[in-house]
Amino acid sequence: MTIVHNDNETILGRNEINDIDAILAIPNTDPNEVEHIVKNNADSIFTWDYSLSRPALRKLYEKAKVGQWNATTDLPWTTDVDIERTLAADQAILGTGFDASLYADTPVAKWGEKEWLNFGIEGRNWQLSQFLHGEQGALICTAKIVETVPWYDAKLYASTQVVDEARHVEVFARYLNEKLGGSYQVNAHLRMLLDDIINDSRWDMTYLGMQVMVEGLALAAFGFLHQTTTEPLLKQLLRYVMSDEARHVAFGVLSLKEVYDGMTDAEMKDRQEFAFEAAVRMRDRFMQQEVWERQGVNMKDIMPVVLNDPTRGMFQTMLFSKIVPNCKKLGLLDRNDKWLRRRFEEMNVIQFEDWVDTGEEYNAFALDADQAEHAVPVAGE
Ligand SMILES: [Fe+2]
Ligand SMILES: [Fe+2]
Repeated sequence: MTIVHNDNETILGRNEINDIDAILAIPNTDPNEVEHIVKNNADSIFTWDYSLSRPALRKLYEKAKVGQWNATTDLPWTTDVDIERTLAADQAILGTGFDASLYADTPVAKWGEKEWLNFGIEGRNWQLSQFLHGEQGALICTAKIVETVPWYDAKLYASTQVVDEARHVEVFARYLNEKLGGSYQVNAHLRMLLDDIINDSRWDMTYLGMQVMVEGLALAAFGFLHQTTTEPLLKQLLRYVMSDEARHVAFGVLSLKEVYDGMTDAEMKDRQEFAFEAAVRMRDRFMQQEVWERQGVNMKDIMPVVLNDPTRGMFQTMLFSKIVPNCKKLGLLDRNDKWLRRRFEEMNVIQFEDWVDTGEEYNAFALDADQAEHAVPVAGE
């Protein structure tokens, strides 16, 4: 017997997943805001059991210690980045990400090459800005895990991830500041998600929200941009970040597998709902609200078309290529009458369920793996 299912209203604050008014009703972050305070409701746990009881996590810890790099000296910061030339070259390969023919009745119908290029430049800045804010979320979440996880091996590993995330915040902040000349505030939907993750008192929810959902998406997004951008500094920066990020997702999958295997249906339902909420919040953020607005486009005019643009949809679904197999591995898809599977079907991302999960995949992302047989697997391969 499963508990009474909460509906979308309870989980998302709206009944209809594509309710445009409700999505747009969440206010953008104040551009002048410097500090954002979130209540962290969790207990800090000491453990006196220092025995090696989780060898897989200890192995990851050993990998992390030798996988460290120095953002200051290992990346070619002297690279001259001409963002206009970069985006023109990147768009020549990928297009704008939109099917322009669908926008005949919208304010962007008259956009020519110049406007789309400008949108691409702003979009790149916005995307890297969201990576930056997400990295700070990871830094805070992982510091929290050091305190809240009851396992010795996990505390050791998480401490290395704190340093990794500091480095990631460092490289994205520096790239935005030195090469792109500024950044966007955190997107409202991403901010809500990060707040929810940090707010939750249950230690496994930090892992689920951050290591599985946010970092799972990041790993796919970094992989896609790494593979497609022509800008050499960004390419290398992403390659380095991904070598860490794959370990982080593996940390989430390995830790949660053990916990979730022993959970009741009711406990699993909470996790399924949280995974669903996270997936929708991330999807809402892909609307790039602030970028359209900075270009003078009213979101209400453009959003119905963007939501139904298959080109855009294709790029967006690829971002779930790591999340879905990892949720499957954790048993989240099919518990409680396939609850999360149904939701992922509605979101049109279930097709990734049998793609490789990240529990073991991290070795292929290691910095010395480029010469190995299986170099950097990314979304789409
Ligand atoms: Fe990171
Ligand atoms: Fe990470």
